[in-house]
Amino acid sequence: MSRPFVPSPNVASIKESATIAVSQRAKALRAAGRAIIDLGAGEPDFDTPAFILEATKAALDAGATRYTAVDGILPLREEIAAAATRRRAGREAAIAAADVVVSTGSKQSLQNATFALFGPGDDVLLPVPSWVSYFEMVGLARARAVEVPGDASRGLKVTPALLEQYATPRTRGLMLNSPSNPTGAVYPADELRAITDLAAARGWWVISDEIYGRITYTVPEAPSVLDVAASRDNLVVINGVAKAYAMTGFRIGWSIAPRAVSQAMTALQSHTTSNAATASQHAALAALTRTGEADAAVRAMVSEFRARRDSARGILSAIPGLELVEPDGAFYLFFKAPGGDGTAFATRLLEHEGVAVVPGAAFGTPEWVRASYAAARPDVDSAMRAIVRAWTA
Ligand SMILES: Cc1ncc(COP(=O)(O)O)c(C=O)c1O
Repeated sequence: MSRPFVPSPNVASIKESATIAVSQRAKALRAAGRAIIDLGAGEPDFDTPAFILEATKAALDAGATRYTAVDGILPLREEIAAAATRRRAGREAAIAAADVVVSTGSKQSLQNATFALFGPGDDVLLPVPSWVSYFEMVGLARARAVEVPGDASRGLKVTPALLEQYATPRTRGLMLNSPSNPTGAVYPADELRAITDLAAARGWWVISDEIYGRITYTVPEAPSVLDVAASRDNLVVINGVAKAYAMTGFRIGWSIAPRAVSQAMTALQSHTTSNAATASQHAALAALTRTGEADAAVRAMVSEFRARRDSARGILSAIPGLELVEPDGAFYLFFKAPGGDGTAFATRLLEHEGVAVVPGAAFGTPEWVRASYAAARPDVDSAMRAIVRAWTA
């Protein structure tokens, strides 16, 4: 007897990722013969640096094919801990490998953290626009996401005053993401410090997603909460190799958290996925330890991203009064759509101009649109010209 599928309460309200939905529509149109430029993707279009591929193959040949410790191979966790300790500049005892949990992408670290820290009855402050998955992760933990609208006059970033305005007695923490997906905005050190000070004073957890930290255009690296917070007792810092080293498919991310939190996250991971893929952990170790080659690769990619960004911004400047967030990091342009309807504009762009972008509704800001410039420069330029055309159409 076949029964209709009734989703369990665990997943009943979960939404498909809107960014993936756009990519699928773009692929479907392409399969139907349309020429499509896909600026919906959140993935560097560069090849993974060759030295990382070589290190991965060498690790496989040397037998890196079995389970590892749930929280990851020790040299990788040691390297992550050492780098984080340097950022703390002696504020407290060194961060240990035991404070680090390596996971299957930073996405899993974010999920581990939200699940470990928040639960029913808890409110979590979510600055919007916000990356799509935070809403769902907080929901899966059965906590409530409280949207805090970013200040349009400050690149849609939030301030301590805004966070306080939306806080409730049930607030247990907040999610931060700098450089930001979807806006590309970067929080300078003083703004980050003001937020971590507030969180410490109010006893809130800060989950800081720093996955785009190395992709910045005004500073060599975006400030981390590790650089500025007086204490790391309430910090969970998330990072990974996907964006900086063009390693999205390797699926390696990590968390740096107080020991008890790391232990809870490891216990959770031990019952879900166990260790992240062993060969990928060795690949990440090469990316983090072979710094000469890695830095050169990051520099080359960031320089190309910058050239695309500058060119794209130049073309968009033909639109009078365009509201565009200052794109200081990551690889996204976030702008207010004509008529304040991001979904209508994204649909018009795709159907009439063959350009895929993501409507801002996906990020909690329906008036806006996100265009990624993780695509070849001529394609990004053509897409920008199409946006200018569609604006006036
Ligand atoms: C803000 C943000 N955090 C995390 C991730 C996930 O990265 P990973 O591939 O390491 O899971 C992404 C990927 O799109 C992202 O944009």
